[in-house]
Order: sequence, then C-alpha cells, then structure tokens
Amino acid sequence: MLLNKFKIIGDISLSGDKSIAHRALLLSSIIKGKHIIENFPSNQDLVSTLSILNQYGLKYILNDGFLEIDSNNMNFKELTINCNESGTTARLMCGYLSSLNISCVIKGSNSLSNRPMSRIVEPLKSFGVDIKSSNGKLPIMINKNKNNRLPFIYDLKIPSAQVKSALIFYALSLNGTSSIKGEIKTRDHLELLLSYLKYPIKVSGNKKIIIKGNHHLSDNFHIKLPGDISSASFLIAAALLLDKSKLIIRSVGVNPYRMGFINKLIDMGAKIKLINKRIKYGELIADIKVIHSGKLQGTVINSNEVPSMIDEIPIFCVVAAFAKGTTKIIGINELKHKESNRIKAIVENFTAMNGNIEYNKNYLLIKPKNKMYNTSIKSFNDHRIFMSFYIANLALDRFYSDSLSDKCYNKSFSNFIDLMKEIVHENI
Ligand code: S3P
Repeated sequence: MLLNKFKIIGDISLSGDKSIAHRALLLSSIIKGKHIIENFPSNQDLVSTLSILNQYGLKYILNDGFLEIDSNNMNFKELTINCNESGTTARLMCGYLSSLNISCVIKGSNSLSNRPMSRIVEPLKSFGVDIKSSNGKLPIMINKNKNNRLPFIYDLKIPSAQVKSALIFYALSLNGTSSIKGEIKTRDHLELLLSYLKYPIKVSGNKKIIIKGNHHLSDNFHIKLPGDISSASFLIAAALLLDKSKLIIRSVGVNPYRMGFINKLIDMGAKIKLINKRIKYGELIADIKVIHSGKLQGTVINSNEVPSMIDEIPIFCVVAAFAKGTTKIIGINELKHKESNRIKAIVENFTAMNGNIEYNKNYLLIKPKNKMYNTSIKSFNDHRIFMSFYIANLALDRFYSDSLSDKCYNKSFSNFIDLMKEIVHENI
C-alpha cells in the first residue's frame, strides 16, 4: 500500500484560546488592579483588543505569552477605535463600551466593515443605548446617554457567542438584574470566567442567563489560558489523515460548546482520546491524543450541531473529503459572514483540487473522490480557509514548508507554520 508522503509526530502545546483571551482581557480592564494572564496568544485579533484597551489607559507587559496587566489608571475618553480584522473585538466592544456609557466610534478593516453588525447594534438600541451602525455594518457610533439605563430581558435569536457575551458585558454595568434567553447554547467562556471570579451570574436550566448588574469585581486575578481548540483542530485533522501519525496536544480547552468537531470525528471512527481531564479557572481542559485513523465514515451534521463547530466547518470539510461515503452539513449559511464567505471559499478550493462538493441553499454535500490533486491555496485572506487547505494539500503530499507570502494565519495562530515544520516528518 502506498503511504502518504508525510506523517505527523509530536507532543506539543498551543497558545491560549482566542475566545477566552478576549473575554479575560476585557474583564481585566473592568476589574481595577493588577492581573496576570499566562499563555496569552499574541495573534492579530488579540493585539487589536489589547491596543484598544491600551488607548484607554490599560498598561501591560507582554513577554513570551506572559501578560502582566495594570488597569488602575484607565481613562475612558472619547475615541475612535480600530478593531482591524477582529469580529470578536468589534462585537464585544459594542457591549463593553455601551456599558461604560462613553461616546466612541468603532471602525475596522475593509473586510470587517463588510460583516453584519445589526445583530449586536439592534438589541443594544432596544435597551435604550444611543448606538448607530452604517447600514448594519461598521463604523458604529455610540453616544453617551443621559437617560437612566435599565436592566433588560432579551430573547437571542442567533446562536452567536459574540452577541451573547457583548450583552453580558453590557448587563454588568446596569442597576438590577438582566436576563438573556433563546439561543444561548454557545461557547460560555464569559459565564464561566465570571463565575470563577465569583460574580453573581447564573445559567438557569440551560435556558436563561441571569446577570446581576453593578456587582463589584475586586480581586486581582492570575489565570493561565488553555490551548486553543480551534487551532488544535487543524493539527488533529492532519494527524487523522496522514498514515502513521501520532500526536499529543497538551492542556487544550475542551469546553463542551466547542466540542462538535472532535465529537463528530469520533462518531466517524476517528481515534481521538481526551486524557487527564481537569477543570482550571472554570474551564474543562484535557490532553488530546490522536492517531491516524484510516478511512472515516461520512456523516450528517444538522443545523443545531453547527454552533459547536462553527469555526471548524472548513477543516471538517477537508476531513470529510477523504472519508468513505457522503457527508452532508445542514444549516451553514452563517459561514457566509465570517472572515470570508467560507462556503464560496470551501467550494472554490475543493473544485480546484478536483474534489466533489456541492452547495445547495443551506447545505453542503461532500462526496469523496478517488483522485484529488494538491494546488495552491486560495485563502480569501481568511485564516481558517488558509489552514484548512494547507492541511488538505499535506494530505495530498504537498508540504508548504517554506515561508509563504500569505500570512493570514497570523490572525489566530501565529506559529502555525513553525509548528507544522516541527511535527511534519517524511514517511519512510
Ligand atoms: C467567537 C464566536 C464565534 C466564532 C468566532 C469567535 C467568540 O462567532 O465564529 O471565531 O469568541 O465569541 P459567532 O458568535 O458570530 O458565531
């Protein structure tokens, strides 16, 4: 039998989770004091949030992932802030800055300025915040509001953790108890971190989040972020697809709302084990062991399963293209609103590789073919598209080991290429 040209061998750990890092950073600025965040990921999205907070007076020293923060002298003046490419920064900032009741303008790069913002502007507006978007997009203008700001009850219609967290940030500043119901079963990092810091927030029967406003958060905190499970997904996929691979990724965040990718792969026959499960700073973490798994079985992903693997759909499609039988992913239109139109990007890259993929209204159908070819990667300036098709190429015996001019992976996984160079070996 002809083996893949390359295999993955490694025992590694990854930089901290991007979603948790955004939330921890914003909280560190709300809680006056000195805080430490270890394993802080210095990727572009986090640099955007950190620079904005720095403009508001947050002082920090960042040394090899060790972030020391001093938020004693924050100065919330009127500013125009630039979120660059970071959707999480833009949406969280809407809730965060509304809670401070200051005037500001929120801007971003051209590509971020094409992404939908009504989902966060409309609820805040309905609570009486003086906030305006530009036709549902950035720039967003917030004006200081003289009216009494009241607690709210909100029925969230989109399963978006960014919107949910932004609303929680807003609720923290209000006099009284607010609640969020509806589509709340998404990553709950902010809820967990607040509970860990003993803030009165409660998730009732998985149906409703209840947030008491204006409670004092006082103690300095020191936390260490778990490795980013979304970054891990690319490496897991590579180890599953390449003959003779063996990979351990230590201390990864395995929050149940982020486990869709791994759980589905296990259902499809993947040899993945979570060992050493433990709770750290409120989050479930584990070491992930993966070995090459031969042919996996095609599967169906239903719309209600998509939120728990929203960022992993592109790399999941890559794995599915090498499986046995057809895979159908239903309810994926939210992917049109990510860093690129990911549906278009996935279809174009597969088509260029002679893959068989079909998009129909709201589902993707992947029918594995005997022969696919490696190609150049068309990233659409989207980090997750780049890394997904980097792995697809590796599974088709092409290893991009030299420095590539496209560095869009820096958005979430700055050492992606260096790490690949460390764990990719020739199969001999
Ligand atoms: C994120 C939530 C998800 C995800 C994004 C990060 C977060 O977006 O795609 O990469 O940190 O809350 P949505 O909330 O828009 O689904």
